[in-house]
Amino acid sequence: MRGTGYRPATARDLMRLLRIDRGRRHEFKRVLRDLLNLTGTKFGCGVGECGACTIHENGAAVRACQIPLSQTAGKRYTTIEGLSAKGDHPCQRAWIEEDVVQCGYCQPGQIMEAIALVHRVRAEGREITEADLDGIRNICRCGTYPRIREAIVAGAARM
Ligand code: FES
Ligand code: FES
Repeated sequence: MRGTGYRPATARDLMRLLRIDRGRRHEFKRVLRDLLNLTGTKFGCGVGECGACTIHENGAAVRACQIPLSQTAGKRYTTIEGLSAKGDHPCQRAWIEEDVVQCGYCQPGQIMEAIALVHRVRAEGREITEADLDGIRNICRCGTYPRIREAIVAGAARM
C-alpha cells in the first residue's frame, strides 16, 4: 500500500511479536492458533495427555502441544480446519448425526484421532474393533464417550 507507510507483517515479524521460541514445546500449537488463526486445535493439559490439541502429522494423530516448532520442517500437518471446506468430512457428518457434542472443547481432537485411527486400521487391511476404540486416550470431561464410539463406527463406514 504505497504512501501509507503500511508494511504487512511477515511470519518472522509475527513470531518475534508473539515471542515464539522454536525450540520450546507448546510453540507449534501457538503458531497454529495465534499466528495462523487455526483455533480448532484446542489447548487443554499441555502435557500430551488430554488430546484436545490432536492434529495429523503425515496422516498420523499427534499431540500438537508436544511438538517443538523446530521439529516440524518437511512434515505435512492437517488441523480440523483442513479436513473439508464446509465441515462435512464423513466423520464430521457422523458426529453431527450422532449428536456427539456437549460443550465441544475436546471434539476437534476426538475427530482428528478418530480419522487417523480409521486410516491406520484400513492400512492394516481390517476394520475398527472394540479394542481399537478402547485404545483411544483422548479425554472428554463431558463424558460423551459412548456417542464418540458410535460416531467413529458410523463415520468409518462412509470413508
Ligand atoms: S493440550 Fe495437548 S494433549 Fe492436552
Ligand atoms: S464435549 Fe465437553 S469435553 Fe468433550
